[in-house]
Amino acid sequence: MTTYRIATIPGDGIGVDVTAEAVKVVDAVLPGIEWTEFDWSCEQYLRTGAMMPADGPERLAGFDAILLGAVGFPGVPDHISLWGLLIPLRRAFSQYVNLRPVRLLPGTESALRDRTAADLDILIVRENSEGEYSEIGGIHNPGRPEEFVLQESVFTRVGCERIIRYAFDRARERDRRVCSATKSNGLIHSMPYWDSVFERIAAEYPDVETRQMHVDALAAEIVLHPDRLDVIVGSNLFGDILSDLAAAVTGGLGLAPSGNINPQRDAPSMFEAVHGSAPDIAGKGIANPVAQILAAAMLLEQLGERGAAAAIDRAVCEVLAEGSIRTPDLGGGATTTELGTAIAERATELTGG
Ligand code: NAI
Ligand code: MG
Repeated sequence: MTTYRIATIPGDGIGVDVTAEAVKVVDAVLPGIEWTEFDWSCEQYLRTGAMMPADGPERLAGFDAILLGAVGFPGVPDHISLWGLLIPLRRAFSQYVNLRPVRLLPGTESALRDRTAADLDILIVRENSEGEYSEIGGIHNPGRPEEFVLQESVFTRVGCERIIRYAFDRARERDRRVCSATKSNGLIHSMPYWDSVFERIAAEYPDVETRQMHVDALAAEIVLHPDRLDVIVGSNLFGDILSDLAAAVTGGLGLAPSGNINPQRDAPSMFEAVHGSAPDIAGKGIANPVAQILAAAMLLEQLGERGAAAAIDRAVCEVLAEGSIRTPDLGGGATTTELGTAIAERATELTGG
């Protein structure tokens, strides 16, 4: 059996609790993984002045994958936690795809109550290394009446082509439909460029049906007609916003996983829940671990462990469908550990353990 070496960065708040449950579930289906925990967090920042050591990326480079909880805590500005850990790791490891599956899971109550699991199964492919999240810009004439700030976006040919091509490749494994998020009426340089790359790549995939929608209309489409959507590809900012919206209209942030993928596999990919560290419920033991458990299943799938990943997915669906063990965000009274343990036990049964 292959032995995998996986790094965990539980981070802050509920990131710590949900990561412990995800590790437990993975151990139940695939024993023998060598886990190494890194305590990089806002707590570490307050102690040392850095979210992670300067050689953080080098220390992680040799691992097969990374499982990240969430970083961010009151007292440390969010741009510090984001630019001190998350964004440098995504860029150091060329994790240029942010993959965000959005499904209505069985037994969960959606904001779209009359929809079923068959109506809502979307894969959001978010560009993860450039776009609107750029360091280029600055504040000019600070404190003076003529003060202004510039924040530039960066859309490279390579960056647009590879993320759009990735979306088309994934669509071929699904329903063969790709919708591109644009806003070419407002962002008159970057988005027409993005659209032109999309049209050029689309011509290479004549078997895939395409649409281009302005991101605001697409937000409405996710709520009104989710069944018309299969794969959505969007820039860094648009993909981020659409995936929180999509998570919220399904069962909420507690159920939405995400992967920062390096498709070339020359560096580790990193998996995490879409949600953050949730300071409002941190330390209460009631965070929903499902998003992080499904992120761990995506991690196993990326490693080629499809059977183990499928067992976790099925265990999550079955436990949610039965409905007796739920965390408060799903209307129940169970703790993080109770739900994690129920899923781990079911996953063990499914793998014949
Ligand atoms: P959040 O996702 O942490 O919380 C939003 C709301 O959803 C809260 O009411 C929270 O209680 C609830 N929620 C989130 N996950 C849940 C779960 N598993 N179970 C039950 N309820 C859950 O977003 P927020 O409040 O905007 O950010 C809090 C901190 O997290 C900030 O410092 C932010 O920068 C950071 N953050 C970090 C991310 C990361 O590490 N990738 C991503 C998003 C936010
Ligand atoms: Mg987000």
